[in-house]
Amino acid sequence: MENRITSLFEIQYPLIQAGMIWCSGWRLAAAVSNKGGLGIIGSGSMYPEVLEEHIQKCKAATDKPFAVNLPMLYPDIDKHIATIIRYKVPIVFTSAGNPKTWTQHLKDHGIKVVHVVSSVKFAVKAAEAGVDAVVAEGFEAGGHNGRDETTTFCLIPMVRKAIDIPLIAAGGIGTGRGMLAAMNLGADAVQIGSRFVASKESSAHDHFKNAVVEAKEGDTMLTLKEITPVRLIKNAFYQQVQAAYDAGKKIDDLKALLGRGRAKKGMFEGDLNEGELEIGQISGLIDQIMPAANIIDEILAEFETARAEQNSAKYIFG
Ligand SMILES: Cc1cc2nc3c(=O)[nH]c(=O)nc-3n(C[C@H](O)[C@H](O)[C@H](O)COP(=O)(O)O)c2cc1C
Repeated sequence: MENRITSLFEIQYPLIQAGMIWCSGWRLAAAVSNKGGLGIIGSGSMYPEVLEEHIQKCKAATDKPFAVNLPMLYPDIDKHIATIIRYKVPIVFTSAGNPKTWTQHLKDHGIKVVHVVSSVKFAVKAAEAGVDAVVAEGFEAGGHNGRDETTTFCLIPMVRKAIDIPLIAAGGIGTGRGMLAAMNLGADAVQIGSRFVASKESSAHDHFKNAVVEAKEGDTMLTLKEITPVRLIKNAFYQQVQAAYDAGKKIDDLKALLGRGRAKKGMFEGDLNEGELEIGQISGLIDQIMPAANIIDEILAEFETARAEQNSAKYIFG
């Protein structure tokens, strides 16, 4: 399956496992890369020495390309970047910040740079900053997201129309049919997060993985737009946030309620009541925890079936 993204990253399939705080360490990234996709280490929850250890272990576990996701709000970002350069990580996915800040520096060191956006405006800015590709992430996605609520179905064709560089679709994709749909809309590849949270190799706590499997349609919500919009499971913590909104609380009260360490508490330590449980709408379709390699096999098999159906006149005309 060769296209602009497989050539750019030197991978077999245009399938990328998303960088995800507390969930995507070296085990998951290496498993995905070994299977022919692109695995990503999520560095946003790692101290500098922890990222270094994950990169070393990932390199030992795979000889295939892998990437590091770098949320640009990270306080010690220069340390992360120095480590990435020192270990010659070939690809970086930046998010949550201005793509102009680090793109050229990373590219000067031979690193391919991809930036994550949730709107056409920022996709254009990223392309102008010289990134090699853009991830366009729709409203359905798990974790932090844009404020505009543009769904993947609307965002991908709009971004496709606005920029020419390789485009990766994210948000609400967890199956082969979803992957084909995104590529029909104009994407060159897909980035999948939530589905890989429920993988054997994900570093999420088992309580969280089980909560993802149990989640049904309607069980997630995008909230805390005043701070950083985040899609999460509507658990007891979310109800506290809602109660704060209902009581007319201000941004400082919401910040105090969120506090520090909520995401770690929920996703890594498994506190399903007090923790923040970031996951996408597609969780309603995830019904088991599987090894990453089996998830990829299943997605690719369904992708090929759906593509064959689509190509047959019988499917199109009934
Ligand atoms: C648990 C979780 C943590 C995430 N953490 C990050 C992160 O650290 N950096 C980032 O750019 N995106 C993060 N995301 C967003 C993903 O990278 C990805 O774009 C998104 O999950 C795709 O949508 P999906 O969940 O519907 O597959 C996270 C998503 C989840 C579910």
